Amino acid sequence: MSSSRALPFEISAGAVAAVEAAAIASARMAGRGDEKAADQVAVDAMRTALNRIAMQGRIVIGEGERDEAPMLFIGEEVGTGTGAAFDIALDPLEGTTLTAKAMANALCVLAIAPRGGLLHAPDTYMDKIAVGPGLPAGIVDLDASPSENVKALAKAKGVEPGQIGVCVLDRPRHAAIIEDLRAVGARVHLISDGDVAGVIYTTDPSTGIDLYLGQGGAPEGVLAAAALRCVGGQFQGRLVFRNDDEKARAARAGITDLGRKYDLAELVSTDVVFAAAGVTNGALVRGVQVSGATTITETLVLDSEARTARVIRTTHLA
Ligand code: FBP
Repeated sequence: MSSSRALPFEISAGAVAAVEAAAIASARMAGRGDEKAADQVAVDAMRTALNRIAMQGRIVIGEGERDEAPMLFIGEEVGTGTGAAFDIALDPLEGTTLTAKAMANALCVLAIAPRGGLLHAPDTYMDKIAVGPGLPAGIVDLDASPSENVKALAKAKGVEPGQIGVCVLDRPRHAAIIEDLRAVGARVHLISDGDVAGVIYTTDPSTGIDLYLGQGGAPEGVLAAAALRCVGGQFQGRLVFRNDDEKARAARAGITDLGRKYDLAELVSTDVVFAAAGVTNGALVRGVQVSGATTITETLVLDSEARTARVIRTTHLA
């Protein structure tokens, strides 16, 4: 079947199959206390599934650089090698610790876009700020203080700052941010891991989260931006470098302006499909459920071209 779509439905179906396979594999490792093993099985399963898709796929955000990651490394070609060319950002297991400890909200995530559509973010940290859809452009800004952002957001939403919920990764490096947020009266929702989901929460009023703030992985920043590109919202990110090695990683990724503040359209510049399958139960999707020989997965699939947001519940028969 031919398609005039930049992201044919076969591609999004392939993306779903890839995150589902990774979720089923890593769910078997839930609660076993072995983060590396949980990640490895997700990588293996996702790679096998990606290689079944009829495409010329290239990993632009993956498990690391070629010398440190034997599989799904940055630059690795995946797919059957036929068909159109796509770039892929992936995190086979977003929440390795969550999985190892059988805690909620572990996901297997990928984003796929036509070649050139995703920023080649190096494996460094990124300062991030995000809000959901329906707000004036530029309502929050990475360069404003947390309390200024809360006040601006409260004004735009016609509520008091005390009614603004902010999601922040629970890390010592965020102490000053959390203090400033609480000083202005905002409700701080601390998460132990998983800031791709943290950003997506801002798009769902039922989460009570209006704003995402703080420093997490740059790869996760691009993945979260891909999700917002599909459902609407605003995102800004700035890479954070702790040493010369990280700056060299950025140079190898083709990044010259190290202090650049990226907006959503620079992180994800084309249409994109985002897929996230639950490993453990979470606020976005349920985790893998095994019943006898049958396995059920739930996957959030966002498609900016089709303008659809789906949760796909798949029964994998024995
Ligand atoms: P992993 O599953 O790869 O460990 O990532 C989980 C995560 O919480 C991300 O969601 C987040 O961007 C990053 O780690 C934060 O890094 P750190 O744990 O070093 O603060």
